[in-house]
This record gives sequence, C-alpha cells and structure tokens, in this order.
Amino acid sequence: MLYKVVLYNQLLKDKVVVVTGSSKGIGFSISKEFAENNGAIVIVCSRNKEQATQAIKQINGRVSAAALDVTDNSNVQKFMQQILSKHNRIDILVNNAGYQFDRDIWYKRFHQVTEEEQVKIIEVDLYGSIRLSKAVIGSMLKNGNKSGGVIINISSTPAIAGHVEGSPYTIAKAGNIALTKCIALEYGNENIRAFTFALGNISTLATYGSMTDDDRAKAADEPSIKRWGKPEEVAKVAACVASDTFSFATGNTIVIDGGTVLL
Ligand SMILES: NC(=O)c1ccc[n+]([C@@H]2O[C@H](COP(=O)([O-])OP(=O)(O)OC[C@H]3O[C@@H](n4cnc5c(N)ncnc54)[C@H](OP(=O)(O)O)[C@@H]3O)[C@@H](O)[C@H]2O)c1
Repeated sequence: MLYKVVLYNQLLKDKVVVVTGSSKGIGFSISKEFAENNGAIVIVCSRNKEQATQAIKQINGRVSAAALDVTDNSNVQKFMQQILSKHNRIDILVNNAGYQFDRDIWYKRFHQVTEEEQVKIIEVDLYGSIRLSKAVIGSMLKNGNKSGGVIINISSTPAIAGHVEGSPYTIAKAGNIALTKCIALEYGNENIRAFTFALGNISTLATYGSMTDDDRAKAADEPSIKRWGKPEEVAKVAACVASDTFSFATGNTIVIDGGTVLL
C-alpha cells in the first residue's frame, strides 16, 4: 500500500513578524496561523501588554508579547528598538490595528462627523499603518535585509465600494489601499512587497459579537457564499501572501468577503 506523506509546509519559517492589534480577533488568528502552522517568530501586540501576554498563552510556537499603541510615536520607536535588539530584523508587518467600533460615530451623517472624531479614527486605521510601515521599512533597508520584506495593510470593502455609514472608517481604510501602492512601487526593487486585504464581514467579537441576531443574519446574506467569514480564513490567505508563494505579486488589493465586491 502506498502511503502519502504530507509534509508540513512551513511557509514562513524563521520569519520575524509583527502583527499590530493582535491580542484578539483577526490579528490574533493571523499570529496563531503564522506561529503554529508556518514556523514564524511572531510578536503579538496590544496597547495593554497583559492582554498580549494572555493571548500568547493560546498559541503554540515562537511568540512574544509586546505593548504597542500605533498612535504614539515615542511608543512605536521604543517598540522598534526592543524588537530589533532582540530579533535584529522584522521580515513581515501586518497593519491590523483598527479603532474600536463606535456606534455614535458610525451612524452619524458625513457632514455631522466632527473633526476630532474623524481624526481619532484616521490616527489608528490610517496613520497607525503609515507610522509602523515607515519604521519597519527603515529597519528593513538599514539591515540590508536581502530577503526583503512584506507589509499587509488590513482594509475593508467599503474602501473600494463605499458605504452609507461609517465615513471616517471608510476614508481611513481607503488610505490603506493607497499606502500599499506607494510602498509596492517605491520599494519593489528592494524586494519589499505590500498588499491590502479588503475584508467583508469577518466574525469577531468586535463585529459578530456586538450585533443583534437580525443584523447578523442580514450580514450573512450579503455575499454570494451566504455566511460570515472566519478570522482563520483571513489568516490562511495572509500566510500565503506573506510567503514566497506570492513572490511576483505586489501592490494588490485582495478582497476576502465571500463574494460581495467583485473587482
Ligand atoms: N471583523 C470584520 O468584519 C472586519 C471587516 C473589515 C475590516 N476589519 C479590520 O480588521 C482589523 C481587525 O478587526 P477585528 O474585527 O479583529 O477587531 P478587533 O478585535 O477590535 O481588533 C482590532 C485591534 O486593534 C487594536 N487597537 C485599537 N486601537 C489601537 C491602537 N491605538 N494601537 C494599537 N492597537 C490598537 C486593538 O487592540 P488592543 O485593544 O489590545 O490594543 C484590537 O485588538 C481592523 O483593522 C478592522 O477594521 C475587520
């Protein structure tokens, strides 16, 4: 009898990965997938280090916890120093941190959103991604990192198709698509690749966990696949895109939404 031996495919073996906002939700699933199934060394981040420490207890593999607030320049610099002194490089950055859902801002009409509200969201969802990308690219270039690097910016389908609510979020997430393209074009010849993930309804505590049954059902009915996505399904795509499997692709927006927004 012929037995088929399935060798585990460690797509990200020994890659040093930073995932922002990863103590829970999609960021946590990406960290788990990268460390447990793909051999990466993952830094799980939260503004509250204790939360990151609790999260890494649920992941098998090479993981560590770090405090990171993407809106705080000095905190980002301190974080970078800590990671680089320990690991000497960062190979992959996933800009996943997102401003927590705020019902009051979300349902405001565009012209009624205050500047302060708009800025709060842009600071995390867009400027956070810019800030981390700058810091990480700087270190990738300084190290003469011959293997280059990969940056994944987590965006959302409203950034492509628009949405009648949540304009500050849509605008911030749309900026991530442009950020990806800037990085892809400017650093392609230095072997740094960048991707945007435009996500549809992915079941996390922040989304599914905060909705009524009626709203959950409506969201499930939107895509042609007729259900919510799982964070693990995003994580598996991330592992693939961050690996050499995608070595001749960069700048792309990858829609993961069960077939709602078709490009
Ligand atoms: N779930 C969906 O359906 C969906 C759809 C489209 C896009 N997305 C995007 O996917 C990402 C993850 O979403 P999720 O559903 O997993 O939500 P989540 O569980 O709330 O994750 C967001 C994370 O962002 C972190 N965060 C917030 N402010 C931060 C700051 N100033 N600095 C650093 N980290 C900060 C939070 O970490 P701490 O509180 O631990 O600091 C939190 O864990 C977000 O960017 C979201 O916009 C999600």
